[in-house]
Amino acid sequence: MSNNDWDFIANKAENIVREAAQLIKHSLQTELIVEYKSNPNDLVTEMDRKIEAFFCEQITNEFPKHYILGEEGTGKDLNTLDGTVWIIDPIDGTTNFVHQQRHFAISVGIYEDGVGKVGIIYDVMADELYLALENKGAYLNGVQLPMLKEAKVSEALIALNSGWILKDERLKDLVSKCRGTRAYGAAAIEMASVAANRIDGYISLNLSPWDFAAGAILIKEVGAVISTIDGKELDLLNNSSLCVAKNGLYQELQNDFLNKKG
Ligand code: IPD
Ligand code: CA
Ligand code: CA
Ligand code: CA
Repeated sequence: MSNNDWDFIANKAENIVREAAQLIKHSLQTELIVEYKSNPNDLVTEMDRKIEAFFCEQITNEFPKHYILGEEGTGKDLNTLDGTVWIIDPIDGTTNFVHQQRHFAISVGIYEDGVGKVGIIYDVMADELYLALENKGAYLNGVQLPMLKEAKVSEALIALNSGWILKDERLKDLVSKCRGTRAYGAAAIEMASVAANRIDGYISLNLSPWDFAAGAILIKEVGAVISTIDGKELDLLNNSSLCVAKNGLYQELQNDFLNKKG
């Protein structure tokens, strides 16, 4: 596919995201049906499913040959990234959506043969749309985000869920040595916040491909580093841990905290 094709696809994707956001905003005026999946803290609403269905309908109409992988079940048997694949989280931060009616995002990463081409993260209530195009930069509401400068642990704000800190000694050590931690409750917003230079890094012990598919493209376009916490490349078809950070900080996290030798 040529660059023009990708501009066209990115434009379509942005339009679908914006339409989906309107549907979500509308739904806030009525009472939501909330259920839980694996446990009482794993919420899902009718809107998570409706928005994923909306994406499927729009993508299938416009691009019948593209594949879709979504949190609410679309493409659950997909076992290859061959071709063009849209990896979608219809609402990232469902708990925030239910409890706070804000701080949630729509996240869409479009990959071709496993290579990230277009990443969109839309923080719906803040009206902040992050768009990344492979080798063409990352943009926040149309303004290009500058390349990120180096950072170090002692001066870093790192996004980290408190649950992970309780479970992992390496993270306790990190918390005691970094400048501060934040937890926004939406992985896509946490990654976008690194890209926008609002925080310096983000660590999670377990995420799904739809949580990081768009963010990974954004992060690369601003010159930061992304991998699993073991420093391995992310797998877009399986769950994994995540370590995202500015240069310098990333190496320090890997060498002195996450994969310390001896
Ligand atoms: C969740 C959020 C949360 C992260 C969880 C994800 P969801 O996504 O991104 O911040 O800690 O691991 O599952 O379920 O709200 O789309
Ligand atoms: Ca979920
Ligand atoms: Ca998610
Ligand atoms: Ca979700």
